[in-house]
Amino acid sequence: MSKHLSDRIRRMELTPYERVVRESMGIQGAINLLSGDPDFPTPDHITQAAVEALRGGWTKYPPIPGYEDLRGAVAEYHGRYGVEWNANNVLPTPGSSQALYLCLESTLREGDEVILPTPTYLDYFRILRYFGAKIVEVPMVEEGWRLDLEGLKEAVSEKTKMIIACNPNNPTGTVYTEGEVKGIADLAVERDLLVVSDEVYNEFLYDGRRHLSLAAEPGMRERTMVILSFSKTFAMTGWRLGFVLADEEFIRGLQRIPIGFRPSSFIQRAAIAALKGPWDEVKRMAEEYDRRRRFMTEKLNEMEGVECQLPEGAFYVFPSFRDLNIKSMELVENLARKGKILVHPGLAFGEVGEYHIRIPLVKPIGELGKVAERLESVLRELKKGEGRAKLSS
Ligand SMILES: Cc1ncc(COP(=O)(O)O)c(C=O)c1O
Repeated sequence: MSKHLSDRIRRMELTPYERVVRESMGIQGAINLLSGDPDFPTPDHITQAAVEALRGGWTKYPPIPGYEDLRGAVAEYHGRYGVEWNANNVLPTPGSSQALYLCLESTLREGDEVILPTPTYLDYFRILRYFGAKIVEVPMVEEGWRLDLEGLKEAVSEKTKMIIACNPNNPTGTVYTEGEVKGIADLAVERDLLVVSDEVYNEFLYDGRRHLSLAAEPGMRERTMVILSFSKTFAMTGWRLGFVLADEEFIRGLQRIPIGFRPSSFIQRAAIAALKGPWDEVKRMAEEYDRRRRFMTEKLNEMEGVECQLPEGAFYVFPSFRDLNIKSMELVENLARKGKILVHPGLAFGEVGEYHIRIPLVKPIGELGKVAERLESVLRELKKGEGRAKLSS
């Protein structure tokens, strides 16, 4: 690696796991289930609004903070969870990954400790590595994937700067209960911690569950940075549109970062149409994810030695192969080579994710059925101990 590269970039050299995933991407004809990219098209009225905005001349630089009417609409949208926001509490960004980056860029110092209840979204690990923060994993309790509130308390040290909470959780599908939200909030207030509350799956909750925002708890609005994304909500991954909602002081801090991170003008205009609705297609997507999660969980649990909990939210399943004693990297390598299915190993989401893999439910049920069949046949071979494939060899 060139000596001219910064320490931050040097830290981003691929880990062994990332190298295996990178190699697997070269396999021809594989079913790619690496990312949570919905298979649904963006609802047509949103696309129409973007086309009209382009034709209507929304092709100039957008204002630095983003369009005020969009910011106001986002504030009102998230306000339904009981947080008092206005347009000045909202910053649109090109995707929520960028939002996350900006939140950490504006608050973290090298050596700060950041607590992650794990398993959790894999990019947090990469971004924190980039910033040189120390990651403190607090494993969730696997039975039901519940937060370990005592463990979280014990993990706080003098150096702890923040907790990054992913609710609903990717990859476990955990939806925080009232007790869990209060538990994190009380701890953050008591120990004066910041909280990044990643709520990008807030529209995908099942069995009548209700989304609760950490920002709505007493004492939390001024210490919480909420992350939202249109990628999942409106199946708009390629548009790149996300948001930070936070106290005005944070938002002004984010705006001081001297790079042009604004989303395109016409995309911001279309975002207003997205929020205005109709919302039927979002509802239909949620219903379809609901069907898929039931289907896939059932299929996985029918396989001998496999255990899969029914996710409460988001659109992933996170089955365990512990009873078969198959580690996540080994399974991922064999699935890629022999089953032509590309997935992330559970280990990528934290140490407690070992023996699991993550399957995003972003394919129609027919195709998920094919994934299940191939997985079962790879497991059969592994159980027999037949020629375990290794990508890395
Ligand atoms: C929990 C979570 N946060 C943030 C993101 C980033 O989404 P985007 O950058 O497309 O808004 C993802 C994407 O998978 C995610 O799962």
